[in-house]
Amino acid sequence: MAETSQGRKRILSGMQPTGTGALHIGNLEGALRNWVQMQDETELYCCIVDWHALTTRYAEANKIWESCLEVAADYIAAGIDPKKAPVFVQSQVKEHAELHLLLSMITPLGWLERVPSFKEKRDLMESKAEGDESVSYGLLGYPCLQAADILLYRAHAVPVGKDQAAHLEISREIARRFNHLYGEVFPEPKSHISETTAVIPGLDGRKMSKSYGNAIFMADSADEVAKKVMGAFTTPTKMRKTDPGVPESCVVCQLRKVYDPEGYKTSWDEDRAGERGCVQSKRELIEILNSTLEPIRKRRREILDDRAELERILKDGADRAREAAVTTMNMVRSAMGFK
Ligand code: TRP
Repeated sequence: MAETSQGRKRILSGMQPTGTGALHIGNLEGALRNWVQMQDETELYCCIVDWHALTTRYAEANKIWESCLEVAADYIAAGIDPKKAPVFVQSQVKEHAELHLLLSMITPLGWLERVPSFKEKRDLMESKAEGDESVSYGLLGYPCLQAADILLYRAHAVPVGKDQAAHLEISREIARRFNHLYGEVFPEPKSHISETTAVIPGLDGRKMSKSYGNAIFMADSADEVAKKVMGAFTTPTKMRKTDPGVPESCVVCQLRKVYDPEGYKTSWDEDRAGERGCVQSKRELIEILNSTLEPIRKRRREILDDRAELERILKDGADRAREAAVTTMNMVRSAMGFK
């Protein structure tokens, strides 16, 4: 199996550049913090999957690069050290496209048609019924491209959450099918999520997601954070300060627990006992959130202000990722009998 020269496990992580604002605190606490921890013990590659973004943003292709820079800034501001873990953009390592093409030939259509996220996106697009919004071949192939991202590095693990389980399962199935047809090239990638990973609720209590409009972004100013927290859902039956709260199902209390792991208990007890109002809880949370986010925001701004340096980091990342990719592609071509 592809243990690296230092015997460390190889991990491939990736996020899509979905638009301005880039990553939110759900991504930060649920993924990036975990990556930062892993960068010392594993051989970690941090990919920004811009071709995946084309499956939905094809009409604004020329805006995707800008989003990539923002995602890269978010990665680094969160603590990824690009010297340890290459940060790179998928489209700058063309081997992703070659492997995707080869894997597409051995991926049964049925596997792709069954993926829940495909069905959801297809239904959404078809319900809009706008002539130009048709489901593309590329959207159907999304999981196959993701499999290529992962297998190209012969990664042992991928740090993704439950929402990616179906995609990861297809990656494993494609790896198995390739190995069976042409000989053992790929390890089967496992999902790798740290047990301490926090689940961050969105401001409306659903999962935090850009598309739900319920997210606090890493790039949000202190004022934006304050405004959003002030509008967050709390316990619906707690109308007055003296009404008992239910911290387990209150967004503000849940965020407090993540960002104030030592002090949150007292505030929860007071909330339950009807000894504090939601406005007080919100004001305190705003302080706590902003003091955690301010250094990240500052670092993010500095990174984005030096475009030339950021582009250099991405080029260096792509060069290092490509080295690993080229090795795999040589194995793949030789296994399949191509020169
Ligand atoms: N589908 C992933 C998501 O939406 C993004 C992704 C594409 C990815 N390729 C990947 C994640 C490879 C991890 C590894 O989050």
